[in-house]
Amino acid sequence: MLASTLFALSTTGAFAQTAAENGFANAVNDPPPGYSGPVFELSHDYPAEHPGDCGPDDCPWLSIDVDFTTGVPLDWDDPDSNWNAYIMSMLDVAIRGQDPNFSNEAGFNTAPNGYPEWFHVPWMAYDPSAGREFAHGTTNERTAHLSDFVGSPMPNATPLTAMSNDCQAQFPHGFESWAVGVYNAWGGYAIGQAFPEDGMPALTQWGGQVVPRGLPFPDGTMVAKFLTTNATPDCVQYLEGSSVWMVNRHAYSDSTGYTCERALQETRLTQVDVAVIDPRSPTRWVYGTFGYSGNAEGDTVLERLVPLGLQWGSDPKTFPAVPRALSVPATESVLNLGIVPDVIEYEHWGCEGRLAGPVDNPVSSCLSCHASSFAAANGAIPVMGTNVPPSFGFSGICAAGGSAQNAAYFSNYNFPQAYPDAAYAGAVPLDTSLQLAVAFTQYATFANNGAPNACTNPNQF
Ligand code: HEC
Repeated sequence: MLASTLFALSTTGAFAQTAAENGFANAVNDPPPGYSGPVFELSHDYPAEHPGDCGPDDCPWLSIDVDFTTGVPLDWDDPDSNWNAYIMSMLDVAIRGQDPNFSNEAGFNTAPNGYPEWFHVPWMAYDPSAGREFAHGTTNERTAHLSDFVGSPMPNATPLTAMSNDCQAQFPHGFESWAVGVYNAWGGYAIGQAFPEDGMPALTQWGGQVVPRGLPFPDGTMVAKFLTTNATPDCVQYLEGSSVWMVNRHAYSDSTGYTCERALQETRLTQVDVAVIDPRSPTRWVYGTFGYSGNAEGDTVLERLVPLGLQWGSDPKTFPAVPRALSVPATESVLNLGIVPDVIEYEHWGCEGRLAGPVDNPVSSCLSCHASSFAAANGAIPVMGTNVPPSFGFSGICAAGGSAQNAAYFSNYNFPQAYPDAAYAGAVPLDTSLQLAVAFTQYATFANNGAPNACTNPNQF
């Protein structure tokens, strides 16, 4: 089926031009006059050709001996295991050629060797609420609360004793997260197929499903995402010495909290997420996460990133995918528990021993949230829980053991299957990319409404 039959509005030439302008825009708004800091440029010169096999230089993890199918709970520190080597090989590639202190001036360089090696997802500058800002191209994500960083009544919690009520008082609306993600050449090739130069999604058929052209992401794909927070070291001690970026994020007002107005303000690197395709994984994907810690050894900011864990499946035999009585311990995540509490002081894992990161939702997990990445059928505007799966959760998430929703959310989804809940029949699978989900949502908003949604109160995120 051609894209034009699914996106009925997208057939006129003039419209196509505008789709490209909107889709490949750099940022929601331009730098103000006199601004002399870094300016983000969307890297969208996607490789036109498949980059070929990914060798040990670009995909070193593929030749590291790991077993994703043991079916037993795993120990990061098991001397016979290679989890640490695996995740560090991902980080090495993600930060190769970058400024070791990840400074504001340097930002993330998409062309460390003089030609584009890292690529951004289009359409993420369309939405004024959360869309890309002009300095580093970051977008707004889940607001984290102090308890996410320094403890709450969760398993593995190690409350930070020095935590003061002052911080709580100083940041009553929590800490905003602003992040920027990049795909390597293999991922970039797929994105360029899915969003060709006209800026409109190209769709095709696979296994009875409508799917974006170029998906699934080919072997060799890597994604990295750099997350920053406006929490400060006097509130979250281990952010001491992290890189401080100035980004054009939501201005803050004492009376109303975060507002739709944007202003250049500080934000600090706190988390780095990585994801790769590894055909040995039951979902083809392996997700990993790092936290920045000023208490870690290392002379530079990037050396002080500590690995927190890896995940390659959603553990469909573990609660709440099944009732508690039938549940077995999680075996598709491996958590670097030894690092807590010495270095990072506190880390909340996701649901029931599955991996989630410091600024993520603790009742979810990396892959469960990501596997629910779908666009709505027939070019409609996606509404989570209505015509696309509820990525950000639902009533009873991680609680109602064996419910159909939990079973679907914590399943091992494989592209190009339909989401394992018939409520979302016809939804277009996006092979775990939630940035592509943002792109499809924004394109559908453009195609259906001709204008982005007005900014809504950022405190609701
Ligand atoms: C509750 C949902 C949720 C959880 C849990 C979650 N993410 Fe994400 N993630 C998102 C959303 C939404 C985006 C896209 C928005 C953006 O990047 O600005 C995203 C983007 C990403 C990206 C960029 C590529 C892509 O797929 O869009 C990576 C890589 C990533 N996340 C890794 C992780 C890792 C690793 C974990 C666990 C430590 C994790 N995520 C947990 C929601 C989640």
